[in-house]
Amino acid sequence: MKGRREWWKDSLVYQIYPRSFQDSNGDGIGDLNGIRQRLGYLKELGVDVIWLSPVYQSPNDDNGYDISDYQAIMAEFGTMEDFDALLLEVHELGTKLVMDLVVNHTSDEHPWFQESKKSRENPYRDYYIWKEPREGGMPNNWASRFRGPAWAWDEQTKMYYLHIFSRKQPDLNWENPKVRQRIYDMMTWWGEKGIDGFRMDVISMLSKEPSYPDGELKDGNPYGDGQPFYANGPRIHEFLKEMNQKVLSRFDWMTVGEGVGVGTKEALEYAGFDSGELNMMFHFEHVELCPGPYGKWNENPVDLVQLKEVLSRWQQELEGRAWNSLFWENHDYPRAVSRFGSEDPKYRDLSAKMLAICLYLMKGTPYVYQGQELGMTNCDFKELKDFRDIEIHQVYEEMVGGGKVSHEEMMGYIHHTGRDNARTPMQWDDSAHGGFTEGTPWIRENSNYKSINAKEQMGREDSVFRFYQKLFGMRKDSQVIQEGTYRLLLSEHPGLFVYEREWEGERLLVACNFTDQWQELRVPGRTLKEAGLWLGNYETEPERAGLRPYEGTVWAL
Ligand code: NOJ
Repeated sequence: MKGRREWWKDSLVYQIYPRSFQDSNGDGIGDLNGIRQRLGYLKELGVDVIWLSPVYQSPNDDNGYDISDYQAIMAEFGTMEDFDALLLEVHELGTKLVMDLVVNHTSDEHPWFQESKKSRENPYRDYYIWKEPREGGMPNNWASRFRGPAWAWDEQTKMYYLHIFSRKQPDLNWENPKVRQRIYDMMTWWGEKGIDGFRMDVISMLSKEPSYPDGELKDGNPYGDGQPFYANGPRIHEFLKEMNQKVLSRFDWMTVGEGVGVGTKEALEYAGFDSGELNMMFHFEHVELCPGPYGKWNENPVDLVQLKEVLSRWQQELEGRAWNSLFWENHDYPRAVSRFGSEDPKYRDLSAKMLAICLYLMKGTPYVYQGQELGMTNCDFKELKDFRDIEIHQVYEEMVGGGKVSHEEMMGYIHHTGRDNARTPMQWDDSAHGGFTEGTPWIRENSNYKSINAKEQMGREDSVFRFYQKLFGMRKDSQVIQEGTYRLLLSEHPGLFVYEREWEGERLLVACNFTDQWQELRVPGRTLKEAGLWLGNYETEPERAGLRPYEGTVWAL
């Protein structure tokens, strides 16, 4: 849309994982009416857009990312009337609502798949990806992203179907124009209901390389890596341009694509200002740094030099050509304080605020994941049975069951990078289960809810919540943050993240200390002597010669 600034560029987006946000009926599962009770809280934080993780009907093999009816609400979350009421209330507050679009796959309980598996001749057969066995085995060696093979055998029709996620998440066949049209119709239906856009699940994976070649064996996985053949596949841009032309261009929406396998070059293709596809992409380079021999399953600390390189490259290569999405957390990654900051009570709040400064002073649309604004930390579960995530259980079985690593090692990895770290109940207050439910929560709460919770933080001026509120308020009024150019300084410094933003002569210097030690701050060619402090995370005045542990400062030069 030329001629006026798109609304989503200046918006603060808040991601809700509905299952863990607020339960209103005591069944231990968050729901839509629970979200309605908390809209005031979001307004107070300064949220402009709510992104709802899936709320559609689903058997919950992957917590709603396995949809069995795109036009119905999951009974545990409420009814379509509850959804309509939520949408109305969100709009009355001047906020917007973005839904999750999960169209790489459906649930195997979706009526399309139920039909598809009935016979080779069924009219829905081609809605999914069915293949003959190869030499008596699977059609190729691809791994599921949840470990194990990506193919499941159907005894009745004697063929395999593709499921890049769990076997209850069969991949849709986007080569079939009927499938595409059904999806576009469904999106239009939601658009006419009045939603404000979509976050698009694994959207880079819709088009598969038609020859289905074997993938490389890596990360200690007995199955091959199919990603090079299903991410950014040959027809992906044709599909998204068609989707844009048939649906997206008809609505004043925000669209953000989940970019598995997407680097800056690909992001420009999906979301360049003139791409005619999406508004923005999420990339994962910064949250997937420092993998180990088992890929994401590791306990490696993050290398700050690499983190700076990644985030700076995205700032620079998209400059003037595409728009960045700024996020530290979502429902698939550990908590940022635990991963990039410090859980030590001495530094926890400080590091949470420093991380906010470091990321949200960059250019792009800011995303906050529920509880991040409180500095919530990774969960402290001791036993495997406390975890609920299908990925965690499948990988445990393969790695420990397969004798690759010990139980203790695997539990260490899960604590470090497992998805349930982000899925524990939202910590509202210090009552039972953190005020999330009056029943038994579907997943245990983090035991630190008595010290980390929204009620306590809203009543304290120096809390992480209040800091987030202040930072986003300042961000909204600042042209230099919204539009300024970005330049990394001290790129090789192992402990400091320092960069500069500039817009029409106005300059901000952002300096963050990622360590628990005092660090000298000396930036060649810049002096802080005359600089005014714009924002800082310590209560006392910063020094100009150095940064205290986990200190974050923003200077107007
Ligand atoms: C990405 C989602 O964020 C994740 O939670 C889900 O498991 C997969 N896509 C499959 O839908």
